[in-house]
Amino acid sequence: MSKIRDKVRTPAILAVVLLPLLAAFTTGPRAEQKGLKPASELALLMREMTAFTDSTRHRLERGDDLLPYPTGFAAMHTATPTDGKLDIDRAAFDAFAVHYLAQVKALYDAPAGDRMSTFNATVQACANCHTVACPGPLVRIKKLYVLLPLEPSK
Ligand code: HEC
Repeated sequence: MSKIRDKVRTPAILAVVLLPLLAAFTTGPRAEQKGLKPASELALLMREMTAFTDSTRHRLERGDDLLPYPTGFAAMHTATPTDGKLDIDRAAFDAFAVHYLAQVKALYDAPAGDRMSTFNATVQACANCHTVACPGPLVRIKKLYVLLPLEPSK
């Protein structure tokens, strides 16, 4: 009986001794990661655009009004990217940005009945630039489309 207990106790004691050691080793790199450079201006703006798009999608699904017009998004053209350089030609980036901003304007100009489809065109404009400039967030972007109600069959 007591032998069995000893067998159980030894690994338990080892765990108690070793776990804090392990923890000490594993927090090292994590602490370093926290010290990494902060997100770029462009990355922060993108996060804001993502939150805006997600929030707008929910509003449209609930039939709520649009958020105030996001005038700040025009700063895409001047916001500093990570490491100060884009992974895409500046002229191409600006063309995609102009297109995205035009889609946002079209959403606010659209009659209420066309908001879902014009909203999806703004998401498509995110995806267009990302396919070329930075494919990582495409997974996230694809989840932002609003599902259009099906046309009643005739
Ligand atoms: C004109 C091109 C362009 C358009 C349009 C665009 N993006 Fe981006 N996006 C980028 C680039 C370039 C980066 C990388 C920024 C950096 O590293 O500084 C980025 C970064 C991101 C990131 C990562 C941010 C982070 O935390 O590092 C997300 C998420 C994102 N975009 C989502 C979106 C969404 C959603 C839209 C549409 C509402 C959008 N993007 C429209 C070019 C674009």
